[in-house]
Parts: sequence; structure tokens; C-alpha cells
Amino acid sequence: MARITAGVACSHVPAIGAAVDLGKTEEEYWKPLFKGFEYSKEWIKEHKPDVIFMVYNDHCTAFDASVIPTFALGCAPEFKPADEGWGPRPVPVVKNHGVLASHIAQSLILDEFDITIMNEMEVDHGLTVPLTLMYGQPEEWPCLVIPLAVNVVLYPAPTTNRCYQLGKAIRRAVESFDEDLNVVIFGTGGMSHQLQYKRAGLINSDWDNMFMDKIVNDPVAASQIPHIEYLREAGSEGVEMVMWSVMRGALDEEVELKHRFYHVPASNTAVGHLIMENKAA
Ligand code: DHB
Ligand code: FE
Repeated sequence: MARITAGVACSHVPAIGAAVDLGKTEEEYWKPLFKGFEYSKEWIKEHKPDVIFMVYNDHCTAFDASVIPTFALGCAPEFKPADEGWGPRPVPVVKNHGVLASHIAQSLILDEFDITIMNEMEVDHGLTVPLTLMYGQPEEWPCLVIPLAVNVVLYPAPTTNRCYQLGKAIRRAVESFDEDLNVVIFGTGGMSHQLQYKRAGLINSDWDNMFMDKIVNDPVAASQIPHIEYLREAGSEGVEMVMWSVMRGALDEEVELKHRFYHVPASNTAVGHLIMENKAA
């Protein structure tokens, strides 16, 4: 049986990808950020997921205002890094576990989560930066990846509770797949950041840390956070944090916290990172 053994929360700031791609990780500005991921690189090397289920958001790369799927599940055989304006990132093509992805699509839809099936999709920094933070710069990604793109760019975004419940349905889908697979689920995005208008540059470390406490220790309370709170406290892009609740919903209510890291600044964004294991794993 396939099992979800752990969850990883991780910001996906594009400048982090550029820092790695351009060889800047040893610069004073970036050093403390990458130090926070040293444990994580060791952890994932030992934990060896067969499949990463990557909950991320597309930033008007694969989708624009003409098509706005709330939840889009990647069912294509592979996903090429997208050209985000400076050319595609020099990272490996992301390979899918196509049979598991199709099984999850069927299970979710029959479980009344009507996701969109993507048989073709390019992936942007929302997906590739977390892989880079965990795996560095390999020739090939060491595991298969199933992407789930969540709309947090154009309102209405899904509610936090819908995301949390979807996480539970993803767990039911994975755990009804009849192949021994170690699956790790990622929730990406956040933390506090606002990229435009009067509050551009907003960071709220108190709120970010409160959110991290909640997502680890009281995921049900975290699942009740309304959009207006992300906007008010964490800036207009803080709504990306709903994706952490998809990840959290796929884990036990009580988890073992393996790693917690918080860092400001990275570009315009507060970076948050958690590794949680299911106790039975
Ligand atoms: C930044 C952060 C993001 O999450 C993103 O998607 C784009 C830009 C930033 O901090 O610059
Ligand atoms: Fe983003």
C-alpha cells in the first residue's frame, strides 16, 4: 500500500531558485537561508520518498485569466520547467508517477473533489524552487512528482477548510493505491509577503510564527483561517498559505515535528519551512 509518511512546508520564492542557478548561495545575503535547509537535505536523503505530492501554485505561467482551475492535478507523463520571462530554470524535467496520479484523480472525483485533470502542463518556480531547496542541483530529480496546482492568484481562492479537507481526501486516495510507495506531501508558498501597491514589502513575523505553531499543533484551528486574515496580517500574497493546509490535512492530527525554520528576508518574502512526520510512519 502507498503511504503518506511526512509533510514538508516550504516557501517558493523565485529569487531563491535564481540564487542557486547563478551560484550565489555563499553570498552573505543568502547564506543564512540555505543554512536552514541543510538539515532538510540530509532528512530527504535518508527519508527517500518514492513520490512527492507537490501542492503549489502557478503564477500565471501555465494558466492565465482565460482558464482558472481551482485545483489542477498533473496527470501528464512529465512536466517541463516553464519560461518565466528569463527562460526556463536550468533544472531537470519533472517526471510523474502516471498510474498513481490517475488513481488519485479517480479517487478524488469519486470522493466529491472535482479537480481538473492536466494531461499537459509546464511548471514554474512554485514547484521547482522547493525541489531545489531539498535536493540541490541533481542531473535528475531523485523521485517522481505529482503536482497539484491551487488557484491563489485570482479570487475566489479556495477556503482554507476546503484545502484541509482536500488533504484528507488525498490521503485516502494515496492509501488506497496498491503499490508500496513512500509518499511525502509538500505544501508550498508564503509566508507573509505582498508584492504590490501600498503595502508592498509587508512582513509580519509575529503572525507567521503564530501560523506555524497552529499548523503544527492545531491544524483544525488553522483550517478555519479566513482569507481576510491572510490579507490583513500576511499581505496580499499571504493567501498562498492555504496550500499548507492541503499538506497538513494529509497528515495525522498529531505529528512529530522534525524541523522548523523561519527566515527574513528572501526577496520580498518571509521564508517558512517545516518537516513533520506521521507517527505511524
Ligand atoms: C516573490 C515571492 C513569491 O512567492 C512569488 O511567487 C513571487 C515573488 C518575492 O518575494 O519576490
Ligand atoms: Fe508565490
